[in-house]
Parts: sequence; C-alpha cells; structure tokens
Amino acid sequence: MLANQPPSPVLRGPVPLSHLLLRRFIQPGSRVIDATCGNGKDTLLLAELVGDAGHVWAFDIQQEALDRTAQRLTDQSLLQRVSLLHAGHECMQELLEPPLQAVVFNLGWLPGAPREVATCTATTLTALEASLQLLAPAGLVLITCYPGHAGGDQEAAAVQEWAASLSPRSYFVWRMGQLNVTSDAPFCLLIQDGRSSDVR
Ligand SMILES: C[S@@+](CC[C@H](N)C(=O)[O-])C[C@H]1O[C@@H](n2cnc3c(N)ncnc32)[C@H](O)[C@@H]1O
Repeated sequence: MLANQPPSPVLRGPVPLSHLLLRRFIQPGSRVIDATCGNGKDTLLLAELVGDAGHVWAFDIQQEALDRTAQRLTDQSLLQRVSLLHAGHECMQELLEPPLQAVVFNLGWLPGAPREVATCTATTLTALEASLQLLAPAGLVLITCYPGHAGGDQEAAAVQEWAASLSPRSYFVWRMGQLNVTSDAPFCLLIQDGRSSDVR
C-alpha cells in the first residue's frame, strides 16, 4: 500500500457497500436525509460528508435512537450539522423541501431495543414515494433490506417490487447483494433520479 493511502473498505455485509456509495455521491454542501437513524452510524457518515455547508435530517420514531445518534454526533463535534426529528419517515414530505441529494434507509429494528418496533411495509413504501418527490437531479435513494427475519422478508419483497416498477426512463434502479451467502441475506437497493438525464 502506498503511504498516506486510506485502507481499502472491507465489504462485509451491505452497510460498508452503502457507505462506499455515499462517499462517492455525497459532496460538501449536500442536503440529505437519514430516514432511520437508529444507532447513528449512517447519520455520522452523512454529517461528515455534507460538511459545514450541508445538512442532514435524521428521522426515528424512538427517542432512544435519537439519543444514541445525538451522543455519537456530539462525540465527533458534528451535532450542529444534523436536525434530529422524532417523527416517522412517512412524514418527510410535510417537513422538508426539495432538493435533496440522498435519502438513506436502513430497515429493521434498533439493535439492542425491542424488535417489535421495526420499520413496516406500509410506512416504508409511503416514505419511499415521498423520497422520490424530494430528490435533486441525479439524487439517490439507498435502501438496506433485511429479508432474513419475520416481517423483514415481506417488507424487503414489497420494497423490491416497488423499486422494480419504477420507469427506467426516469429512475436507474440497482440491486446489490452478496451472492456467496444465504439467499435471505441483506441486500442494498439504489435508485438514482434520472429524470433530467439525457440518457433516455
Ligand atoms: C436498523 S435501525 C437503523 C440503523 C441506523 N441507520 C444505524 O446506522 O445505526 C432501524 C431504525 O428504524 C427506526 N424506525 C422504524 N420505523 C420508523 C419510521 N416509520 N420512521 C423512522 N424510523 C423508523 C427504528 O426505530 C430503528 O431505530
């Protein structure tokens, strides 16, 4: 390895893959949403990437998640770049204006909290539709799905079906999952707004 070169990312699971994509797409000054802040790992990366000129809006329905995220951001002196919203992501269109460069979903439950409080299909699909209305040209929606648990399987299938139904003339939709693991392993979906693209 060359001196001063950052170490290569280790792609164990979908989260490092989603972070790799976010690092490529999110620029200083970007406006982005973390739709499920949970422990705040995605929120922290987004706060680093948007810089002082950008902003992150982070949603969660559990105060515990918002508290954990606030602590993580405070530890890195990045809390001022983030608005923590104690609200369901299905309300994002009522609370925010376009344009947003990215909306990030990491579905499922808060690690270490009761599993009954997890994302659910109906509100996730409402929030995904809202995300498309808020995106900037070439903006991204990035979704990590967990089909390997009860409820998550049905949610992942519904999200994938919804994403696959988007017009290829308007959106570029990608599915990324590790092949050499069980078929119900987590996977990422990426949707890029291509409505202003000249690739039609
Ligand atoms: C897998 S965790 C997110 C992990 C997080 N991104 C991280 O980096 O630690 C999923 C989170 O979604 C939250 N959640 C569930 N339903 C929600 C909703 N309708 N709106 C916003 N957050 C929701 C849960 O409370 C939980 O904290």
